[in-house]
Amino acid sequence: MNINNVNLESVGVKFSQYPQTGLPEVALLGRSNVGKSSLINNFLNRKKLARTSANPGKTRTINFYNIDNSMYLVDLPGYGYAKTSKENRAVFRKMLLNYVFDRETLAMAILLIDSRHKPTTLDIEMFNILMNAQMPPLIVATKTDKLKANEKSKINSRILKALGTDLSLKIIHYSTSTNAGRDELIKEISGYIKSLGE
Ligand code: GTP
Ligand code: MG
Repeated sequence: MNINNVNLESVGVKFSQYPQTGLPEVALLGRSNVGKSSLINNFLNRKKLARTSANPGKTRTINFYNIDNSMYLVDLPGYGYAKTSKENRAVFRKMLLNYVFDRETLAMAILLIDSRHKPTTLDIEMFNILMNAQMPPLIVATKTDKLKANEKSKINSRILKALGTDLSLKIIHYSTSTNAGRDELIKEISGYIKSLGE
């Protein structure tokens, strides 16, 4: 997969604002601050295309990044952001669930989980939502640069155990600081997008 022309094509909070091109979408899901927007910048090799923040709750819309008119990488608001109001949380939740369940062009879900911590209750809930939506996610463990080697070896079993799955789901260890996992993720995404056309 060559990534040449990338642009933030649409920003929206409801279906009428999302792209109508029919191109397949690869969505990034995960709790606030897990590193979704940072991964988009790292993956696309564009430092400041997606807005990131050290504080959770940065991304509040669904953002569609067009890659070479062949697919979209989709950045979503995170869940589990405690400081926002109950009403706001409900609005984000509804937007997320509508997107996951009803977006016909959603082709692939990537669930990001912070490699430093056990998956949260909300991570487990999101995993189950994706399974119910017939969309088993590719799992990306983020911020692995923060771990020691012996801790890295424990990430996969901790995640799979918490998610309670015996599926042999792929887990990619990703770091935007070291670029770890980037080539592997490119391979997974491009392989999947290619398979859609076969
Ligand atoms: P929301 O938009 O609130 O849902 O958050 P997000 O998931 O988009 O997180 P974002 O990309 O804004 O990153 C949150 C923080 O994590 C920022 O301070 C990033 O610099 C940091 N971060 C992201 N990825 C990595 C990583 O691989 N390593 C390290 N050390 N920090 C990272
Ligand atoms: Mg974000």
